Amino acid sequence: MTVTLATGVKVMYPEDIVNYKRASPKRTQTSFNIRPFQVADTKTIQDVYLEAHNSFIFPAFEAGLQKPYINVPALLFVHCLTTITESLYIGIGLLFILVVGVYLSYRVKFMNHLNHSMTTDLHDIENFYQCGSDESSFWVAEIAGKVVGFVGMKQRDSTTIELQRLTVAPQYRRRGIGESLCRNVISFYKRKKFQQLILECTEVHFAGKSLYAKLGFNIDERIAAPFALSAITLEHYSLNLT
Ligand SMILES: CC(C)(COP(=O)(O)OP(=O)(O)OC[C@H]1O[C@@H](n2cnc3c(N)ncnc32)[C@H](O)[C@@H]1OP(=O)(O)O)[C@@H](O)C(=O)NCCC(=O)NCCS
Repeated sequence: MTVTLATGVKVMYPEDIVNYKRASPKRTQTSFNIRPFQVADTKTIQDVYLEAHNSFIFPAFEAGLQKPYINVPALLFVHCLTTITESLYIGIGLLFILVVGVYLSYRVKFMNHLNHSMTTDLHDIENFYQCGSDESSFWVAEIAGKVVGFVGMKQRDSTTIELQRLTVAPQYRRRGIGESLCRNVISFYKRKKFQQLILECTEVHFAGKSLYAKLGFNIDERIAAPFALSAITLEHYSLNLT
């Protein structure tokens, strides 16, 4: 597998990193309702989003450490220093500092990213997704009046719509809610005569990737973008709506 870096450089990837899959646990049956967003949903949406996306810090850090163009130079550097100083303790100490440094850089980057979401589109969902003359929209799934999942749709041009922020609260997953949110917007925008639905996710969105494969999305490209002190692989998906 070849991945294109943001700089345009192509890098060979071990198959097992890019195609890493987690076993899909069994589904349980629940009845839920999908409806358009209301302003009163904002706080719950923000809380669910923060809780769900904080859990990606460690998987992203793990994936970052496995990237050969990050770990090979780091190990070579530690090896050289250990050889020059003839001290294994310095080598091990340096390796520890490097790993902790990379982890902290992921934490900071994630926090900045989440704060950014809270002060932009998720701060003012109504204006970002639902007002104006375009066809953007935001949908929530609720169980007994409680918002447990959501998805935002942003119009990109006259034929293309982008799926964003798809999230189901951790305790309500594996009940078909994420899939129903997606199927709902797919049929909605088919009826509106859009031609293409696009989205971006990362290599560590394992459940999302499996869901998009099930729904028939194509992976158009994988881009290894610099992220924190390492990199993250962004994946661009599309679904033909015609
Ligand atoms: C992705 C997400 C929205 C799925 O929501 P969900 O309600 O749990 O998903 P569903 O129960 O509708 O499952 C639909 C399909 O998704 C895939 N899937 C869901 N959870 C999965 C898991 N833990 N592991 C592997 N595949 C999974 C399966 O293909 C599943 O189909 P199946 O039931 O026939 O196996 C949810 O896991 C989530 O919010 N994750 C965190 C945020 C995120 O990753 N969003 C996507 C960003 S790109």
